Amino acid sequence: MVSTIRTSAPGKLMLLGEHAVLHGSHCLVCAIDRRITVTLTPRPDAVVTITAGFGRYEGRLPELPDDECFRFVLAALRRHSDILPSGCDLVIDSDFPNVSGLGSSAAVTVAAIAAAFVWCDFSWSADVLHAASLAVIRDVQGTGAGADAAASTYGGLLDYCAEPISQRQVKHLPPIEVLYSGRKAHTTEVVAELEARRREDPHQIEAIFHAMDEGCGLAVNAGAAGDWQKFGEIINRNHELMTELGLSDTNLDSLVHDLQADPGISGAKLSGAGKGDCIVGIGQVENAEFAHERLGLQITRRGVEVA
Ligand code: MEV
Repeated sequence: MVSTIRTSAPGKLMLLGEHAVLHGSHCLVCAIDRRITVTLTPRPDAVVTITAGFGRYEGRLPELPDDECFRFVLAALRRHSDILPSGCDLVIDSDFPNVSGLGSSAAVTVAAIAAAFVWCDFSWSADVLHAASLAVIRDVQGTGAGADAAASTYGGLLDYCAEPISQRQVKHLPPIEVLYSGRKAHTTEVVAELEARRREDPHQIEAIFHAMDEGCGLAVNAGAAGDWQKFGEIINRNHELMTELGLSDTNLDSLVHDLQADPGISGAKLSGAGKGDCIVGIGQVENAEFAHERLGLQITRRGVEVA
């Protein structure tokens, strides 16, 4: 009998192509060097317990009543309840900074499903794990391109497309600088607002998505050549496109401009849904007087791991 299984998966940052990726465009997403670890210990009964820094859960298979704090893990267990041999104790540990927009939901989903697959001796690949994680994310959120789950599964810097799903590693990894805007973005609400605008004016919004897709292709070439100056220029342009989509405001713009103005930064933009969360710059801040809190994140090649 299996005693304990430990898996971990990294968080993510969107570098290019947010929103457009939900409509068939490519995006660039990277895994960050902060991880969520899931430790699974099988139980002799049908009880499931989940313990995390932010709360505790107890329920029974197969129903597993919902709990707002553990929606993704519970949806992952429910979706795979037919292959689970029994209940289990799950412990979730995270070394993420306490800010939103870093893909913690996708990371915990990927790590939890990987733990369930290992426990059940299920023959799986990274592609199978990504597809299973994306299905869970869509169950919970009703939407999702799966770029976050791809970063958590494969690691590295990915040229990712959701329709049809494809992912390709970009050869070189840029240094990054990440700031928190101080404001949580509500991804599903922002996606729904933009979708309503797209229905009203498909021509304008789709032209912006098209420009984002082109920028992504150029950035993949710049990344393959390690040309971070060019890559940064594309990032700056993408921030303008996000602003045209109505995803920024004067406060967020001013944070982005402060980062763009640093001599060590070749480009900076909002990352993720917009209207809050994180700001990502390419390079490293050189100005000793730089006034904003830096999160100290870097891109990692490490994807999901089974310890
Ligand atoms: C959120 O980080 C990125 C979005 O494109 C949503 C998604 O890709 O699922 C807004």
